[in-house]
Amino acid sequence: MDWREGVALLLLGFISAWPLIVIHAADPDPVLDFVGDGIAESFVLRDIFVNGDVSNTTGGVRAGLGPKFFPAQINQGVSITRFLIAPCGFNPPHTHPRGTEMLTLLEGGPLEVGFVDTEGQTHINILHPNDVTCFPRGMMHFTHNVGTEVANAVSGFNSQDPGFMMRKRQELITCCKDLPTTITIVGEQ
Ligand SMILES: *[C@@H]1O[C@H](CO)[C@@H](O)[C@H](O)[C@H]1NC(C)=O
Repeated sequence: MDWREGVALLLLGFISAWPLIVIHAADPDPVLDFVGDGIAESFVLRDIFVNGDVSNTTGGVRAGLGPKFFPAQINQGVSITRFLIAPCGFNPPHTHPRGTEMLTLLEGGPLEVGFVDTEGQTHINILHPNDVTCFPRGMMHFTHNVGTEVANAVSGFNSQDPGFMMRKRQELITCCKDLPTTITIVGEQ
């Protein structure tokens, strides 16, 4: 085998490994059945609105999960969040850096939902009960109850801890005010 064959083999090896590298950018596959004591009760979280990661405001109630709240999720690469969004309630634009979200409206609403992609295009829809939407991983998205009934919804995520990021606009402006030049952010003029 001369050096050219060697280089070709190396390249081929790299290219065939590429899909695996990409797949492992998400949550890793489980290496055990589960983590923990294995007692049946450890696989149940009673009332997510009591024992989840609950935030209850005038706009509605959000109850998330994650390994801290429900250890049975550890290594499983999935999570859910429940919502009771009051009429006019608004879940402001935010992202989940580690997970795609799929939301379904169980009852109430309707819900206005939308996200903005990396081209700056917005994708806005109205969901009625049993409709489903998908917010791709990392995309800025929102939900808004545009109806007169509490919107009872559930979201699933392909990460045990998809993360939550909401830009604190005022803090960013304060921390950057001494910079000599600024860039223009689309839609922020
Ligand atoms: C949210 O807070 C309100 C007012 O305190 C309360 O009546 C309601 O039961 C709470 N909802 C949940 C799901 O915790």
